[in-house]
Amino acid sequence: MDKIIVTGNGPLHGEIPIAGAKNACLTLMPATLLSEEPLTLTNAPRLSDIKTMTELLGSLGAEVSSLQDGQVLAMSSHDIHNHTADYDIVRKMRASILVLGPMLARDGHAVVSLPGGCAIGARPVDLHLKALEALGATLDLRDGYVHATAKGGLKGAEFEFPLVSVGATENALMAATLAKGTTVLKNVAREPEIVDLAECLIKMGAQIEGQGSSEITIQGVDRLNGATHPVVTDRIELGTYMLAPVIAGGEVECLGGTRQLVGAFCDKLEEAGVDIEETKRGLKVKRSGDRIKAVNVTTEPFPGFPTDLQAQMMALLCTADGVSVLEETIFENRFMHAPELTRMGAEIDVQGGTATVTGVERLRGAPVMATDLRASVSLILAGMAAEGETVVSRVYHLDRGYERVEEKLGACGAKIERTNA
Ligand code: UD1
Repeated sequence: MDKIIVTGNGPLHGEIPIAGAKNACLTLMPATLLSEEPLTLTNAPRLSDIKTMTELLGSLGAEVSSLQDGQVLAMSSHDIHNHTADYDIVRKMRASILVLGPMLARDGHAVVSLPGGCAIGARPVDLHLKALEALGATLDLRDGYVHATAKGGLKGAEFEFPLVSVGATENALMAATLAKGTTVLKNVAREPEIVDLAECLIKMGAQIEGQGSSEITIQGVDRLNGATHPVVTDRIELGTYMLAPVIAGGEVECLGGTRQLVGAFCDKLEEAGVDIEETKRGLKVKRSGDRIKAVNVTTEPFPGFPTDLQAQMMALLCTADGVSVLEETIFENRFMHAPELTRMGAEIDVQGGTATVTGVERLRGAPVMATDLRASVSLILAGMAAEGETVVSRVYHLDRGYERVEEKLGACGAKIERTNA
């Protein structure tokens, strides 16, 4: 199994191109199931999660061709001959549940295994199911599968989500595009990935208003057409690489990044003493003082501080001057990186959803284990600030969400290599 070896190697200088967003691509791909005409995505990231979604769509009868070294995905769903998303694929990735809404909306029936995914809490799918039920679906949960039917098609309805869910918003939004009549979805997620999905669906002929606000209105149409759509920039990859020069020192320009994508995160970095400059090509980041200041962080749905940057921020705060408090409000059990960072000399006390980090002057390299996608990259970041060598094992988690991480950081002077010894 691959491992990544990082050695603290001083300041970074250079530029890092930011890829298309994994989470946007994982919801744009199932949108192909809504139309018989081709959907082409450009600026797609090259990640194992995208391969898993390709495999899942393929198992349903969709054709997905990966072109231009994986950056273009040409998809066609003219012949959907299987309506069952099998456990063997779905268990690898929670976003697989996103095929449910589109299949149901187009053909009136779908069977999808209940998902697995990252080990960061219970992560149920009840909100996805409630929203689809509101649109007229009949659901039956049997043998670990959701059996969904909508005889005569889905019907527009008003539905208010009891709590904000990115995935459930996406599933309901896709399903409502082909429902009869008007759907009003309230208390929806406002993430840039939702806006990107809505924009792609509008290109396909859907009638949608309000994306990016907490209420979306969809006027159902009879059919959707094909489209070509560029995947929005990955704000989590952006935030992660913005932290690299803050942790290791130096100055890095993250190409394709905008402040709009990571506003709350930028505010926190600036509070900690980091310089962020918006350039024509992206965001240029450098650490201004010797040591950054401790800051308190609470994760929230967009536009708040993203939970997907919490682990990386913790890696930074391990060497901040003072005591920082991190509150995780989106997922329970999302501090599994804390004991690993402690192995590197960090001082972290976790009580429920709160982690108190007392900054130390320097971390020390150690063998550590990646426990989930974002945790794995936080250990790499921490390794860049540590004395000596950090060996991160179980990096298959990393490959789900970061393409060519060694190349991107290595090009800026980081000492980082992959080994399968
Ligand atoms: C998406 C992102 C993930 C990110 C998360 C929150 C993708 C592929 N993944 O995940 O990287 O960390 O948003 O920004 O886009 N919940 C329920 N019932 C449901 C659905 C969710 O209780 O039916 C809960 C979850 O357990 C969690 C909270 O709602 O506590 C938010 O989850 P949600 O926004 O749905 O996250 P995902 O869409 O799974």
